[in-house]
Amino acid sequence: MFSSRVIPTRRVVPVLVLLSMILTGCAGLPPTLLPASFDARVIFNLTMVTFGIATVVFVVVEGILIYSAIRFSRRTSEGLPKQVEGNTRLEIAWTLAPAIVLAIVYVLSIQALRSVAYQPSTSSGAGDTSQALHVRVIGHQWWWEFDYPDLHIVTANEMHVPEGAVVNLDVESVDVIHSYWVPQLGGKIDAIPGRVNHTWFRAAQAGTYHGQCAEFCGVEHADMRLDAVVEMPDRFQAWVEGQQAPVAQMTGDAAKGEQVFMTGSCVACHTIDGTQALGKVGPNLTHFASRQVFAGGVLDNTPQNLAQWLADPQKVKPGNLMPNLHLTQAQIDELVAFVASLK
Ligand code: CUA
Repeated sequence: MFSSRVIPTRRVVPVLVLLSMILTGCAGLPPTLLPASFDARVIFNLTMVTFGIATVVFVVVEGILIYSAIRFSRRTSEGLPKQVEGNTRLEIAWTLAPAIVLAIVYVLSIQALRSVAYQPSTSSGAGDTSQALHVRVIGHQWWWEFDYPDLHIVTANEMHVPEGAVVNLDVESVDVIHSYWVPQLGGKIDAIPGRVNHTWFRAAQAGTYHGQCAEFCGVEHADMRLDAVVEMPDRFQAWVEGQQAPVAQMTGDAAKGEQVFMTGSCVACHTIDGTQALGKVGPNLTHFASRQVFAGGVLDNTPQNLAQWLADPQKVKPGNLMPNLHLTQAQIDELVAFVASLK
């Protein structure tokens, strides 16, 4: 019969370790679990259903395993317990049950894939595409370029979109494979050189959503971030007008900085609309000062960070394409004044 034996410590410890790992994982919810768009909601729902099914399977399988281990373990040192071999009904059951579970997950996954692959107009009941916005998302080592061809705006690391509008993204890369991912707004999509991948999202709620390159793309892969800024339509319109405005007339240190910029090697890599700076290698700086972050989203846009960056970009982000220009402190200060005036 059932003997009341103390369970050995070596069996308890791994269970406690596992439990503590599971519980600490819940401490800070990853943003993946806080969907803020139609697609992210679909992905979230699928995740939850799959997780629910997996939990039931886990509890049932582990329950049977633990029950069997206790119920049928050897209790005396004499002889083997009763040996059992083969049970056709059980074998059919444990083959069929997983097949049915996988078939359910498969059908749900296909449904979710279809509804995120097509725009709301072609999938059921998700709204209106009349004011769709088109944005080209271009991956660079290691920053993101956002080109709004219909609005003639090019920016970097910070993508502004209106709440509730369908946003069509054409995702490309100029160098290696990157992966565009803003977890709260939808799934990942690869940015592949020589190819344009399409995706879309429709943000349900204004806010700033952090994104991250999700494909290893070199030493600074982890620091290839982006912010998707979802705004109410009137604020988005104000942003558009700000970005379309011509560059202001510079005075004082900013004018000196402009001189340094336009006569130095900066123009070879950067564009400032309406000037002779037409470089395409680095980020378009036309309205640089309107951005919250720079350098692939890793530095806050402050004069101190800018000065540090200009003094030696390689020290801040080793391997990035901006060389150390060996600027003097005066040149750095003037350049900071200039780019900080590019509002
Ligand atoms: Cu770009 Cu990882």
